[in-house]
Parts: sequence; C-alpha cells; structure tokens
Amino acid sequence: MLVLGIETSCDETAAAVVDESYTVHSNIIFSQQDHARYGGVVPELASRAHVRTLVPVIRQALEAAGIDFAGVDGLAATRGPGLVGSLIVGLSMAKGLALARNKPLVGVHHLEGHIFSNFIERQVEMPFLTLLVSGGHTELILVRELGSYQLLSRTRDDAAGEAFDKVAKLLDLLPGEGVVMGGRIIAELAERGDPKAIDFPRGLVGEIDFSFSGLKTSVLNYVRGLELRERKRQLPDIAASFQEAVVDALVDKTVMALGQTDIKAICLAGGVAANQRLRHKLRAEVERRDLPFYCPSLALCTDNAVMIGAVGAFYLNRGVRDGFDLDAVPRLSLC
Ligand code: KG4
Ligand code: ZN
Repeated sequence: MLVLGIETSCDETAAAVVDESYTVHSNIIFSQQDHARYGGVVPELASRAHVRTLVPVIRQALEAAGIDFAGVDGLAATRGPGLVGSLIVGLSMAKGLALARNKPLVGVHHLEGHIFSNFIERQVEMPFLTLLVSGGHTELILVRELGSYQLLSRTRDDAAGEAFDKVAKLLDLLPGEGVVMGGRIIAELAERGDPKAIDFPRGLVGEIDFSFSGLKTSVLNYVRGLELRERKRQLPDIAASFQEAVVDALVDKTVMALGQTDIKAICLAGGVAANQRLRHKLRAEVERRDLPFYCPSLALCTDNAVMIGAVGAFYLNRGVRDGFDLDAVPRLSLC
C-alpha cells in the first residue's frame, strides 16, 4: 500500500510517499523563507505559502517515488495540532484528491507522526518511552503499543523548542532572511562556548513536569546586565550555558520517568531531537541503565511528511477511514 502523506501544520510544506512497512519512497520538504524578517512564523503568510507550494511539492513527491497519482492507494494529512489556516490547506488538498480519485483518507495527529518517526529506520521494543520535544510541545509519553499513548509529563509553560527560539530572538541571533530555526542557531554558537560558564536554572526541581519560562527570563536578566561589547564577547558561553540548562532539565525528567515505568526502550522525537548535546547526554544516561536509546536521523526530527505518511499507512492498513467532514483542529491532545 502506497500512502501519500501531507504535512502543513506550521511553516514546512511537505509531501512523501511511504508504504505500510514504513519504507520511504520519497520525501520532499519545502521550508518557508518568508518569516525570518518578522522574527517568527506569521500564520497568514504560512497558509499563503502552503497554497503556493503544496501542488508542486506533491508533484515532486510522486515523481521521486516513480509513480503517478493512480499509484497512490491512500491519503494521510495532518489534522492538528498546528496553525489552523495552514492545517486547512493540507487537509483540503488531501480531501480534494481523495474525492476526485476515490481514494481512502485518514487525518493524522502531528505528535503521533513524531512518535512514528522512530519507526521509519528500525523497530522499537514495546512498551517504550518517548521524549517528544518540538517547537510547540515538550512531553514524556509512554507507548504501550502504537495507537495507545499515556502522558507522563508535560511542560507547564514554554516548549523546549519555543525556549530555544525565544532566547535566539532575545540574543538577536535570528537572521534577517532564511528559515527561522532558533534552536539550530543556538546549537551552532554553543559549540564555541563553555556550558559551565553561567549557572542558569534547571526548571522545576524534584518534579517530573517541565518548565522553561524561568530559564528564558534568567537569560534575559543576564544579558540586560551586560554592556553591548561584553554581551557580544560572551554570546557563545551564554548559548552553551542556556543549551546545557535545557538539556539537563530534559534528561533529568526523562531519567525520573524511567524509574516509574516498565519500559524496554527510550526514543527521542521532535525538532529539538536534532540537538547533538541532547542526543549525546540522554544516550549516555539511558545506556548507563542498560536500555536501548533511539533517535531519528536529523531529517526526520523536524517536521516532515514521511512521519505523517507512516501513521496514515498504519491506520489505513487497519481499515481506518475518515470522512469528508474531517476538520482541522489547532489544539488537539494525543492522550
Ligand atoms: O518538530 P518541529 O520541526 O516543529 C514543531 O512541531 O514544533 O520543531 C521545531 C523546533 C524549533 O523550535 C527549533 O528551534 C527546534 O525544533 N530545533 C532545535 C534544533 N533544530 C531545530 N532545537 C535545538 N537544537 C537543534 N539543533
Ligand atoms: Zn513537529
């Protein structure tokens, strides 16, 4: 079964062809460039860009998979959570194609997509724990089997990726043009800095929930106390120390959750899973406890349509179908 996955929940316009064994036949991602000059994703611009680029992106995905639309057995599109205008573009496209060619359709939860991103390259022992860290979410989810999710912990305020993005903005690190990815910019700068230079707070000590807003304020207060030249000089140390505080908090809560469950493996997922320091420190802690640790290759951490196609293939293969009344849901919890 070949499934065309469509992902338009934020500022990536993506389409991919995946089959029921999660083999990737194509993977096309167009990252929108229009938002950088505004310092963050502008919802109205994002939906307009999806309208402009989704058809060519789908065409490329079919071409790269070596099929035409007749070769597609089903459609899967992200239905939420995300920016409502952006979600509607992808979902309407999927509905239109399904209606015109009489193909089955299924709506996909974006976070379930991130969980599935670990299944593209391997099998994972069950039950497993996923640390899902993205621009909108920071959660520890216990997965007993695919399709059955239990929330163990979440952020009480900012998501980890959101903290990276906000700190990149307050440090004036965002480029005037290009893709807005504060986390990537901070991670690059941090390579030249000392992670122990500044002792930023690690969130809610002794609790399993995450909190990053205090850390963000602490960075703000720190840089406010510096003259411009000194601030510039310290930037790599500030980036490295901030990143270390985020990573330590993420690792600490995940280790807490390990003690509470009978899990057989740990997975990392979401855009922040691309962070090398997090991958390295979490792997060390997990493997010290003799558990397997998995994280997707970098291209599958940030938003993509392969993960959406994989979830679609999973459900379509089990006979799940959505009707044409399927709606976009901007706030949608997984469990
Ligand atoms: O999963 P994703 O592509 O979109 C959402 O579903 O939110 O995640 C995007 C987030 C952004 O906040 C971005 O700054 C962060 O992932 N990110 C990183 C890195 N690469 C992307 N954060 C830390 N280190 C990175 N290398
Ligand atoms: Zn995402």
